[in-house]
Amino acid sequence: MLSKKLPLDTIPKRRPTHTLTYGSRYLSTPVPKYEMPSASMPGNVAYQIIHDELNLDGNPALNLASFVTTWMEPEAERLMMETLNKNYVDQDEYPQTTEIQNRCVNMLANLFHAPEEHTGVGTATVGSSEAIHLAGLALKWNWRARCRAENKPAEKPNIVMGHNVQVCWEKFARYFEVEPRYVPLGKKRFVLGVKEALELVDQNTIAVVGILGSTYTGEYEPIEALNEALEKQNKKTGWQVPIHVDAASGGFVAPFTSPQLKWDFRLPLVKSINASGHKYGLVHPGIGWVIWRTESELPEDLIFHVNYLGGDQPTFNLNFSRGANQIIAQYYNFLSLGREGYRRIMSALEENARYLTGQLEATGKFTMLSKLGHLPVVTFTFKNTGRFTVFDLSAKLRQRGWIVPAYTMAPDAEDVAVLRVVVREGLSRDMADMLLADILRAVDEFEGVSPQPPMPPHPKKTRGVC
Ligand SMILES: Cc1ncc(COP(=O)(O)O)c(C=O)c1O
Repeated sequence: MLSKKLPLDTIPKRRPTHTLTYGSRYLSTPVPKYEMPSASMPGNVAYQIIHDELNLDGNPALNLASFVTTWMEPEAERLMMETLNKNYVDQDEYPQTTEIQNRCVNMLANLFHAPEEHTGVGTATVGSSEAIHLAGLALKWNWRARCRAENKPAEKPNIVMGHNVQVCWEKFARYFEVEPRYVPLGKKRFVLGVKEALELVDQNTIAVVGILGSTYTGEYEPIEALNEALEKQNKKTGWQVPIHVDAASGGFVAPFTSPQLKWDFRLPLVKSINASGHKYGLVHPGIGWVIWRTESELPEDLIFHVNYLGGDQPTFNLNFSRGANQIIAQYYNFLSLGREGYRRIMSALEENARYLTGQLEATGKFTMLSKLGHLPVVTFTFKNTGRFTVFDLSAKLRQRGWIVPAYTMAPDAEDVAVLRVVVREGLSRDMADMLLADILRAVDEFEGVSPQPPMPPHPKKTRGVC
């Protein structure tokens, strides 16, 4: 989020101070909001002011817009609190934290079937966005090295990806000067088409991106088919165009619910993969991972070595300092859940997505755009467009506390507007039933069917495991 520094003369319109509250028990003089107060105040007063203001935020447990984890076990949160003061980059000072990151990278490389005979490499990142920037840089560097080796000019690199990519890919392309080549979506195809992608590839393509779980619909892109077709094209043309898999969400879902699906390092052209630990990795924000198939895929001159914290520290990250506690929480999940636990949770989410889909379909009012067996995401729209839209339904649900976003699909399919429910651990079958009842009540109201019975208030906090 980009924040603005406001001109001082516009601030009075916005109520510039925190004013008296609790009968002046806490605050007896106004305190400025947009300038640092000149005097101090007791911590409990500052706490109360901020705590109260944050009540205006949505309830994270009802935030069905986000893929990001909103609940962790108390033991994980205890570990996170205990390690809140550790800087991840202080490798010499916190060698066990570094060791824990190494173990996580190994576990993920194995989960993604990195070849046994090679040394793989990877790092924790702030989220998939940073992971994608790092992976994209490595792809660009490798393309440049290939051009030099072949005595060809290294000009105008491009990257081929579906028009449904998450915004971080557009950022990567713009910030690092790589031409984005978007594969158009179809009227009924909301993910990358293999044939259409290959038409955009040339000798300056640094990679084709395959998304394991489109942000818009949760659908997995056809990565195995892409690998096969690109291998054939590379052979014919002599190009060496690789694949990067954006498994921001699917990286922690598909290995457990669809182990036979080939999307990872089992496919020879997949050179790097990103995954968000803070999505279905089940860790509070912000943590992501990027893993390279082999060490040779990560050019040495992208790695920085510093010695001012003691010892030699190799780093490949966009920032220097960051909190270490999400990495520790990720390791906690790997250890406590194991593959069995992730499989259990992801299967339960899949079941709940199936249930919600079935119930919505049974009403006869909705068309589903998400696919079962892909991410546990339910994307739907009205079958018949009447006087009301998905945006009206989203706003109506918000009155009850549910946050269900309505949005138009990616370019080329933007005339389709949808609602999306991301099924996460907190959305139990009971919660799904309550959501369904609220959806149907809202639709009845829009259609003018029978006066509405008053809706009971939601419990303030909801927490549950599927
Ligand atoms: C497919 C995909 N890639 C990348 C991202 C960015 O991930 P992060 O929020 O971890 O930076 C997202 C986020 O929703 C996503 O869905």
